[in-house]
Amino acid sequence: MNFHILTLFPEMVLNGLNTSIIGRAVNAGRLSIDAVNIRDYAFNKHQSVDDYPYGGGAGMLMQAEPVYLAYEAVAEKIRARSGEQTKPRVVYLSPQGSVFNQNMARELALEEDLILLCGHYEGIDERVLEEIVTDYVSIGDYVLTGGELPAMVMVDAISRMVPGVLHNDVSAEFESFQDNLLEYPQYSRPEEWHGKKVPPVLLSGHHANIEKWRREQSILRTRERRPDLLEKCELTEKEKQWLQDLEQETEK
Ligand code: ADE
Repeated sequence: MNFHILTLFPEMVLNGLNTSIIGRAVNAGRLSIDAVNIRDYAFNKHQSVDDYPYGGGAGMLMQAEPVYLAYEAVAEKIRARSGEQTKPRVVYLSPQGSVFNQNMARELALEEDLILLCGHYEGIDERVLEEIVTDYVSIGDYVLTGGELPAMVMVDAISRMVPGVLHNDVSAEFESFQDNLLEYPQYSRPEEWHGKKVPPVLLSGHHANIEKWRREQSILRTRERRPDLLEKCELTEKEKQWLQDLEQETEK
């Protein structure tokens, strides 16, 4: 998968993404991350890319033309490589977008190319957004100073859904948010630490019991920490009954 990040701060994005699992996947050729400096497409001699908003108001806006030229350069590269004329998917990072989640990460990981547009200052001239943006995405209900950190968050979450990026593809599937359930607690050596013992079932070697225990722990943890998710997950009739029994017990 190829990420193309349009930004005024390419080094911030590249430095943040060249380590650990994502860096390794890039070196292995499973991903490419290209950061395009919008300032390289400034059309005046001062290389400025921002100007005052019409109608007044605080701050400066990124102008339409440099953003459009940076986009066109990337789109042309994609067209040349793929031989297709289809418009690439362009995500604009903004608190006004749909809130990013695991389902979006999974869906976007199916794209071969993804353009991420990072705004700065007070935003970007609306006209270029209308022309190039296909998806508006927020990473949460708070306001950041720019789209770079959100773009990095998205690249990380999407990349780990791309086949071959994680050593063990199974771990991408069986993790927090699969099924809308949180992950069960995990333990490694030693068997006892600070007086706390590893739950005996995990040492039993009985795989069916271990699976059952993990599933129950996932359900309990989701109920405790993210009850909003529990409403969306698919429990068996038996599990629903088990939860009801538990609730009645705690009421007693
Ligand atoms: N830009 C500024 N704040 C943002 C947020 N919460 N999500 C995505 N992009 C942003």
